[in-house]
Amino acid sequence: MLNALYPAARAILFKMDAEKAHHFSMSGLRTLEKTGLLKMLSASLEPKPVELCGLKFPNPVGLAAGLDKEANTIDALGTLGFGHIEVGTLTPKPQDGNESPRLFRLKEHQALINRMGFNNPGIDEGLANARSSESFKGIIGINIGKNKVTPNEKANDDYAIAFEKAYADADYITANFSSPNTPGLRELQAAGAAGELLGTLKKIQERKHKETGRYVPFALKVAPDLDEKQITELCKVFRDGGLDFLIATNTTLARDAVKGHPNADEAGGLSGAPLTKHSTEVIGQFHQGLGKDIPIIGAGGIFSAEDALAKRDAGASLVQLYTGFVYRGPALIHEIIKAW
Ligand SMILES: Cc1cc2nc3c(=O)[nH]c(=O)nc-3n(C[C@H](O)[C@H](O)[C@H](O)COP(=O)(O)O)c2cc1C
Repeated sequence: MLNALYPAARAILFKMDAEKAHHFSMSGLRTLEKTGLLKMLSASLEPKPVELCGLKFPNPVGLAAGLDKEANTIDALGTLGFGHIEVGTLTPKPQDGNESPRLFRLKEHQALINRMGFNNPGIDEGLANARSSESFKGIIGINIGKNKVTPNEKANDDYAIAFEKAYADADYITANFSSPNTPGLRELQAAGAAGELLGTLKKIQERKHKETGRYVPFALKVAPDLDEKQITELCKVFRDGGLDFLIATNTTLARDAVKGHPNADEAGGLSGAPLTKHSTEVIGQFHQGLGKDIPIIGAGGIFSAEDALAKRDAGASLVQLYTGFVYRGPALIHEIIKAW
C-alpha cells in the first residue's frame, strides 16, 4: 500500500524546499510508526539473510548514512524494510552544519547536491536516541566523523572519542573520512593519514574487544573521487591495517553529468543517478585490490534492482540507499531484496 502511495506523497514533498521536505517526512514516519499505521501500510518482506564480518543482516539492503543523522527514526525506517540502518554522521560535539540552503534537488537528473556539513546532535545524544529504538531487529551502524572546528592534525582524536563511545551501542561503526563538506576531511584519505586513522581505531577496537568480549567490526567510507593510484595505495593500507570492511562510495565532487542544470554549480557532494556507474567502477577497483577478506558495502546511485545487482557483480556484499530511496520510496527496497 505504502509503496503504491509513495509517488503521490513524493509529488507533494517535491513541491517543498528539499530540507523542509526531509524533516517533514521523517517526523511523519515517526508518527505513523508510533500509531502502528506504518506497519499496517507496509508490504511484508521475506527475509534474505546475508552474513558479513560475523553480523547477520536480515536482508542485503541498508539505509546509507546522512538520512537519519539524529538516529531517532530507526524503528520507522526498519518498518519500511531496511535490513540495516547506518545513523549519523555523529561527531563528538553537536554542531549546526552549514548555512541553509544546503540541500538541492536536480530532478531532471534524479540527483541531489548537499553541503549539509555534519549537522548532528553530537554522539551522546545520537547514541541515546539509537538506544531508545524498540522494534528494529536489523543491524545498526553508527557513522562517526570529526567536528568542523577540530583541525586535521587532531582529527584522529575526534574519531577516537566517537569510536570509544559508539562501541557499546553499535553493531558496526563506520568512520566517514570522505565527506566533501567538512573542509580538509578528504585529505585524511591520503595513504599515510588513512593508515594512522585505521591504526588508531584498530587499537581501541582491540582494547574494547578484550574489555567487553564483544568484537564490533568497523568500516571506512571512501569517496568516489579517487584515482587508480590512490585506490591501489589505500587497498594496501586497508589490508595491512586489518580493516574489517569498506563502504564505497560517498558523494562526488564531479559535475560533468549535470552540467547546465541551474543547481549544478552549488557547492557540495552530488549523489544519485549521475553517480551510479562510477561508484560501481570504484567498487570493482577496490574489490580487486582488497579481495574477499575485506568485504564492501556498495552505495551510489542505486535506483533499481539492476543497479544493486551491478554493484553486487562488481564485488559488493550488501548495498545502501539514499538518493534512490528519496526518489523511489520504499518500493525500491522491496524490489532489490526480491531480485538479490
Ligand atoms: C543529503 C545527504 C546527506 C548525507 N550525509 C552523509 C553523512 O552524514 N555521512 C555519510 O557518511 N554520508 C552521507 N551522505 C552520503 C550517502 O550516505 C551516500 O554515500 C551517497 O549519497 C551516495 O549514495 P546515493 O547516490 O544513493 O545517495 C549524504 C548524502 C546525502 C544526499
